[in-house]
Amino acid sequence: MKPILDELEQRRAGARLGGGEKRIAAQHTRGKLTARERLELLLDTGSFEEFDTFVQHRCTDFGMDKAEKIPGDGVVTGWGTVNGRKVFVFAKDFTVFGGSLSEAHAAKITKIQDMALKVRAPIIGLFDAGGARIQEGVAALGGYGEVFKRNVLASGVIPQISVIMGPCAGGDVYSPAMTDFIFMVRDTSYMFVTGPEVVKTVTNESVTAEELGGAKVHTTKSSVADGAFENDVECLLQMRRLIDFLPACNQSGVPAWPSFDDGERLDPSLDTLVPEHPNKPYDMKELIAKVADEGDFFEIQGAFARNILTGFGRVEGRTVGFVANQPMVLAGVLDADASRKAARFVRFCDAFEIPIVTFVDVPGFLPGTAQEYGGLIKHGAKLLFAYSQATVPLVTVITRKAFGGAYDVMASKHIGGDVNYAWPTAQIAVMGAKGAVEIIFRADIDDPEKIAARTSEYEQRFLSPFVAAERGYIDEVITPRSTRKRIARALAMLASKKVEAPLKKHDNLPL
Ligand code: HXC
Repeated sequence: MKPILDELEQRRAGARLGGGEKRIAAQHTRGKLTARERLELLLDTGSFEEFDTFVQHRCTDFGMDKAEKIPGDGVVTGWGTVNGRKVFVFAKDFTVFGGSLSEAHAAKITKIQDMALKVRAPIIGLFDAGGARIQEGVAALGGYGEVFKRNVLASGVIPQISVIMGPCAGGDVYSPAMTDFIFMVRDTSYMFVTGPEVVKTVTNESVTAEELGGAKVHTTKSSVADGAFENDVECLLQMRRLIDFLPACNQSGVPAWPSFDDGERLDPSLDTLVPEHPNKPYDMKELIAKVADEGDFFEIQGAFARNILTGFGRVEGRTVGFVANQPMVLAGVLDADASRKAARFVRFCDAFEIPIVTFVDVPGFLPGTAQEYGGLIKHGAKLLFAYSQATVPLVTVITRKAFGGAYDVMASKHIGGDVNYAWPTAQIAVMGAKGAVEIIFRADIDDPEKIAARTSEYEQRFLSPFVAAERGYIDEVITPRSTRKRIARALAMLASKKVEAPLKKHDNLPL
């Protein structure tokens, strides 16, 4: 038996070397880890079970029949655990044909995708690859098609996470684009459909890889990526943290971790969070931190459309999605980008049965030609649609302004909010006092005394939570300090919420 076992070990050692020591060293010189090193960091120690270690490509064109056949063919696949919870993984090996996708390489990925869907566990792809293997032609394109189809089949059933850890092009950006989350590593990862050289040839535009598709571009401009981290190690450790928030699948319910933070905890400092002056900003992140268990908040799209906050936290050990207007940026106004960002997050939460807690302080939708030409109507409608469609528990707290259409949109009672609270500082109205008085009392516009009296009258009547509370649109006006307790109780009560939507093939979200 010994020679047989020795041969197995020898073959395994060969496969583990991927494209060889020289290419591994080049990977390290660029500040990147290898595929296997990355998986070791992502998964619990010793939990990785590899599949298809010895798979090889079958291409014979362009000298591929003479090229060395490297076992594994540029991707390491299998499954393991993250803090004891099962996940499926594939990691592109840039040292083997630049991690490019061949027919055999694609079959390794689709095997993992099928398995993940069958056993209902999240799938995480680590990308560092140049797209379709050019030498394989249509066989590689077909392989991508198989991967894309499975991305879509699994969407809304199991969480799919893509981590971009090197230069990625073609299919290695389109497959991530169809998953739930994309994260990047700063300075070493790029995403583009076509690289700088092709751009130069086709459009004569000179652009660096960083300018075309670096982490900064995709987290602040294009919003393709949901976040970026300093290096491979930090990125993978943060992915472990993210996985802890996510359910295994759409029917598993959110994970319940032991909580050491009292759900009934009061926070008197919240009583003074909202400044006296109505136009003075304050940091809504502080409210999220004071409501979430141990202040732990995993932000999604933190660098894009910062006038709205989205991300995961926990209340009494169970995951919730937080959506909150951020008065620190553009006064928390809803614009096209903020609407799109929040809509996608709300839909993720709804698909995976994650309750949503919404904090509202919004002066309305942003006016202007730039917004209207940019399709504000359609993008704003996305958020309205997403909330209206959600069947997960929705708990809303209005802290200050809830003006105009934005009042309706931000998980109001009317579109499906289950428990809607307001702080005594809330102002729920069609618009602020100045604008309102100038429209409805236009005849008095030249009489400052009359205008002042009308403004004061409007402020007294409408800029409070009580008109809405009188109608039952607000379930209760609560003290700011009790916000966590109220939310925790509401979520506990709503845990058994069940809503049946009418049968349809699918909706027609305004895309
Ligand atoms: C075969 C590839 C390859 C590919 C890279 N390599 N991409 N081999 N097919 N697609 C190989 C290189 O030949 C090289 O081999 C090694 O990987 C490292 O590549 P370098 O170019 O030296 O690295 P770098 O300078 O870092 O540039 C990385 C890169 C660049 C930006 C990814 O290689 C590149 O632009 N590749 C082509 C990208 C592309 O256009 N792909 C097709 C997309 S079409 P050696 O032996 O020298 O180490 C597609 C269709 C899908 O994917 C459908 C979408 C809807």
